[in-house]
Amino acid sequence: MTDPLRLVRPALRYKDSYIAAAYEYEAEGHWPLWNIDKMIDHFDEYVEMLLLKETEPMPGWSAETVFWSVVGDEYVGRITLRHELLGNLLNYGGHIGYDIRPTMRRRGFGTQQLALCLIEARQRGFARVLITCDDDNRGSIRIIEANGGLLEDKRDIGRHALTRRYWIAL
Ligand SMILES: CC(C)(COP(=O)(O)OP(=O)(O)OC[C@H]1O[C@@H](n2cnc3c(N)ncnc32)[C@H](O)[C@@H]1OP(=O)(O)O)[C@@H](O)C(=O)NCCC(=O)NCCS
Repeated sequence: MTDPLRLVRPALRYKDSYIAAAYEYEAEGHWPLWNIDKMIDHFDEYVEMLLLKETEPMPGWSAETVFWSVVGDEYVGRITLRHELLGNLLNYGGHIGYDIRPTMRRRGFGTQQLALCLIEARQRGFARVLITCDDDNRGSIRIIEANGGLLEDKRDIGRHALTRRYWIAL
């Protein structure tokens, strides 16, 4: 793949590779959203649901902008920019959450994806963003620190590992 990584909004044109990625996530036991068969049959509704998170969040939930990162038309990963630190997000979750599909990991995409999202955040007026990750998630720690993350603290919020809380000034 020689094209650069880009952030796009969810769209129907990425359906085939998104579905392929969904099976990869399922195989590693991480597929939190819709059942895959339902998603295949109703992909337009699925995309619409993701887009509406920006303007019509669930009550009590922060609005969030969902980006997909792609190379050409190939889905690579997902990164979400939450607009406000509502609820428990100040402790765990923060402004930005992300993943890279399993077959695309360890190629630098996770680091690039966050860098692109930080540009989006800056353009949207954020002065700084909070990102949290588990104390044993070495890949994510590398990604955050490579993008300028400064560790504020590690909190015990009852997970299997402490939660690292990083701020990135924009
Ligand atoms: C964490 C994750 C996003 C990393 O994505 P990625 O595309 O593999 O990351 P990169 O290729 O940019 O790697 C960044 C650095 O972390 C290192 N790294 C990546 N995965 C690693 C792992 N499992 N163990 C140790 N180091 C790892 C890379 O070697 C690289 O190191 P370098 O900066 O010294 O070159 C990906 O593994 C993932 O989606 N995991 C599941 C979801 C998740 O943990 N999301 C983050 C929640 S906070």
